[in-house]
Amino acid sequence: MKSIAPTLSVAAAEALRANFTWGVATAAYQIEGAAAEGGRGPSIWDTFSHTPGKTKNGDSGDVACDHYHRWQDDVALIAGLGVDAYRFSIAWPRVQPLGRGDWNPEGLGFYDRLVDALLARGIQPHATLYHWDLPQALQDRGGWGSRETALRFADYAELMGRRLGDRLKSLVTHNEPWCTATMGHEWGQFAPGLRDPALAAQVSHHLLLSHGLALRAMRAAGVACPLGIVLNQSSVSTASDSPEDAAKARTEYARFVRWYMDPIFRGAYPDDPGIVHRPQVQQGDFDIIGAPLDFLGVNYYTRTWVSTATPPRPAPRELGVTDMGWEIHPQGLHELLTGLNREYKLPPIYITENGMANADQLVDGAVNDAPRIDYVRRHLEAIAAARADGVDVRGYFCWSLMDNYEWDSGYAKRFGLVYVDYPTQRRILKASAHWYRDTIAALRGHGGAPHG
Ligand code: FCB
Repeated sequence: MKSIAPTLSVAAAEALRANFTWGVATAAYQIEGAAAEGGRGPSIWDTFSHTPGKTKNGDSGDVACDHYHRWQDDVALIAGLGVDAYRFSIAWPRVQPLGRGDWNPEGLGFYDRLVDALLARGIQPHATLYHWDLPQALQDRGGWGSRETALRFADYAELMGRRLGDRLKSLVTHNEPWCTATMGHEWGQFAPGLRDPALAAQVSHHLLLSHGLALRAMRAAGVACPLGIVLNQSSVSTASDSPEDAAKARTEYARFVRWYMDPIFRGAYPDDPGIVHRPQVQQGDFDIIGAPLDFLGVNYYTRTWVSTATPPRPAPRELGVTDMGWEIHPQGLHELLTGLNREYKLPPIYITENGMANADQLVDGAVNDAPRIDYVRRHLEAIAAARADGVDVRGYFCWSLMDNYEWDSGYAKRFGLVYVDYPTQRRILKASAHWYRDTIAALRGHGGAPHG
């Protein structure tokens, strides 16, 4: 049997041994390809990625990992990792091409078969309803800036819940609504590529409203699987003890974390003075948004660093940065989780994404991504410490199963445990995939499969 001692500490291994789900994650637009096949309608990411200048090298998800055609092999790949669970997203425009009206049997069939194949291999399916690929036809009617879109989303959620809810291990409404609102509507970096802060605030409200309406619709329809939402979050550190840094840190935390947590768990938006734009809220909206959750998904990659000095004092970056330029700061995950646990009455937590982009090279048929092993190991240690401190973390989904289309960064950034050779679509397990598999196997009390 292989020892996990050189990797995960004994204490962490103990803390993660029981009642912990091990998974890998992907999202539809990032892996499926087949953008114009199987009756799929266009999404805002098709439009955005085909707009010159919006993505690195003009890359789009037209082909991506060709998962739409290779899904059976990919399910086998997941099974080979020995994980318990697979988190994927459903492309709304694949199942309802115009975002309202007719459903697409081919698209529905695709996810039906995927879920069944996962179950046949003993892998829990965890589905996300919205990982950023809004049907373009809804964008043409105002997108998330329109309250109407929230109603359409609830219809879509109800249908998917009825179709798959009996077989899914969990169903998530939104992945990272902050990204949709802020990066999509304020910074213009993600689809639909708008730069309007007031609109972004309204969009954030409609996303939350749509989440609540979806929960309500699915519960009314008797959907039995656990229902939740996934938020991207980070701890906030300051460069100094100055009151200015402290105030800025409070605002950053309010914008990024509390803006989504407070409406769900406290029935109001945070009233931080640093937040300028506030959405229009109708009476009763917070009752809808605050519907009880069965679990909360947290995506964590890095911390937020605050310095109001001129020039700003840079973060120390003791553990370096990833290929995205994101500081590696695993303690932030512990800080975040223990902080949330103090501040809110939390349901069970899943770390639904964590991982790193690395400049991986395929050399003699192998990829030695030691930095990724270190990154994942350190974050697992942080989760184990949070569990020991009483935070009810139930699982970890590594982002990502395989290299894929990293949004505006295109194919230039590799996040996978599995390397994808895009010209041939060959999948090659990186050293981190072997490590992840062996770690899980060792925790389960049986040795890892031999390195293959
Ligand atoms: C998250 C996204 C995911 C992936 C990772 C790197 O914000 O949810 O799709 O792009 O970042």
